[in-house]
Amino acid sequence: MCGIVGYIGNRKAAPILIKGLKKLEYRGYDSAGICTLNDKEVIIKKDIGKIEEIDKKISLTNLEGNIGISHCRWATHGAVTKENAHPHTDCSGKILIVHNGIIENYSELKSELEKKGHKFKSETDTEIIAHLVEENYKGNLKEAVLKALKRLEGSYALGIIHSEHDELIAARNESPLIIGMGDGENFISSDVPAILGDTKKVVYLDNKEIAVLTKDNVELFDLDGKKKDKKVEEIEWNAEQAQKGGFEHFMLKEIFEQPQVISETINGRLEDSDVLINDEIKLSEKEIKEIKRIIIVACGTSWHAGLVGEFMIEELAKIPVEVEYASEFRYRDPIVDKNTVVIAISQSGETADTLAALREAKKKGAKIISIVNVKGSSIDRESDSTIYTRAGPEIGVASTKAFTSQLVVLYLITVYFGKVKGVLPAEQVRNRVRDLRKLPLQMQSVLEENDYIKLHAKQFYKKTNALYLGRGINYPIALEGALKLKEVSYIHAEGYPAAEMKHGPIALIDKEMPVVVIATKDNITYKKVLSNIQEVKSRGGVVIAIESKGDEEVKKIVDHNLYVPENSYILTPLLAVIPLQLFAYYVAVMRGCDVDRPRNLAKAVCVE
Ligand code: M6R
Repeated sequence: MCGIVGYIGNRKAAPILIKGLKKLEYRGYDSAGICTLNDKEVIIKKDIGKIEEIDKKISLTNLEGNIGISHCRWATHGAVTKENAHPHTDCSGKILIVHNGIIENYSELKSELEKKGHKFKSETDTEIIAHLVEENYKGNLKEAVLKALKRLEGSYALGIIHSEHDELIAARNESPLIIGMGDGENFISSDVPAILGDTKKVVYLDNKEIAVLTKDNVELFDLDGKKKDKKVEEIEWNAEQAQKGGFEHFMLKEIFEQPQVISETINGRLEDSDVLINDEIKLSEKEIKEIKRIIIVACGTSWHAGLVGEFMIEELAKIPVEVEYASEFRYRDPIVDKNTVVIAISQSGETADTLAALREAKKKGAKIISIVNVKGSSIDRESDSTIYTRAGPEIGVASTKAFTSQLVVLYLITVYFGKVKGVLPAEQVRNRVRDLRKLPLQMQSVLEENDYIKLHAKQFYKKTNALYLGRGINYPIALEGALKLKEVSYIHAEGYPAAEMKHGPIALIDKEMPVVVIATKDNITYKKVLSNIQEVKSRGGVVIAIESKGDEEVKKIVDHNLYVPENSYILTPLLAVIPLQLFAYYVAVMRGCDVDRPRNLAKAVCVE
């Protein structure tokens, strides 16, 4: 989704803004623009395309001036054109504005402003904000902004400057925005990576708050203009984590980080026969024993993690679980009460649908536990408790390390609930903890198969379709494998429960259809999956199997074998998904796709 970076200080603003904007590219965008103030002179440059290309074409970085705002746009209102790219201005050209979000009452406001003589240059909802500020401007920018904001319905994160004021105004409602506090300089940004190299001190703006930044000061106000004091927080991530670190793409780097990430996710949260998350989960033992139902809400890959979580929790903690697409949850009047726990899963913590589902559940009395990667995000702040995945910044649009770390947190919750409810005896808790501790090394051994997986990708990268099959706890892994391939390589892929194939998709099978089957060894579905593989083989399908190391049975009947070490049934998905991530990555690279910035996709989907 769109990204904002703003700067006010002693340094030249443009290089800082463009450097920050490049760090936000992963959010997904189609055009970009920048504006600086050089001694009351307004300089604006914008165009469609990638920042790098625009910079080459019209040189964004060498603009003069120490105050500026910049933006990368993911179109919502109005086509992808230079005119619709931000910043936008008022009639006088003195008020400049960048915006993330959607103004829902924009057409009504636009006709009102047009009647008053305002002339619009773009088709965007954003431009009306500049004119609304102009309409209310009587020499005090903050007052004009406050009056304008009162008229807006919808979501916004805003950066606003005026050519006659040495200040930068930021405002937020339902769209993330942070203030970075430097020494003699201050920043605004949609996300942490943009300012990570410049400061680690941040203030997270809340809904209906504005901030007035000068180079030496930051003041916060509510929409009535009442001054607010807020805690300055320290970002734990470091600038190196947001670099590619020698890898060709962030996606590959993040796949390879998984052993280290998982070690971090479990660090300090395990004892020999205990899981130490009671302080984070903030539920008393009595409350845990009273849980009647768990609803997991999430989107995309995080939803797949929820499906795996459903198996974990029902099997080990014996609590009924439903997994809901967050986008559907609140449109069917869900039955939720005070004995329902809702687990919201989100890497970014800003997914609009997940946030809306969380609010709906909270309104109905449910306790909200969230599993989030980005500290200070909206979902983090609005939950009763948060268990952080500690995956570090995930920049690749295709989620990889966030997924496996979400699974680890779900496992920790499961074992903890099972223990407290008395359904997992101490010995079993001990075994489950031991299984978990094996994971980082086992993941490392899967990653060592990298070249072998790459060779397989070479044989399949020209295909146009693929089917992914799995059963039981591996069905969500089939979904996740298919999603990874789709989003980065644009190959049509479907994930299906292996046995359901007979009820329709089997018609698709011929020698051109690669079928990826998760066929790891267990006592539950393994034998059945072997039969499903035979069904594919007898119709000429080409089978690539993810199988347990040393398994001879699968090897005999499939065409391609990718191995993972054995762990418990419940933890195998964390290993089985890695070859699928690598496979999707290499197929996409071989097809020449922009792996870290797939077309049409946004890293954090902040609009519904
Ligand atoms: O930040 P979230 O985990 O809430 O994001 C949810 C989805 O948008 C996300 O997982 C998306 O499906 C990814 N592109 C998958 O790789």
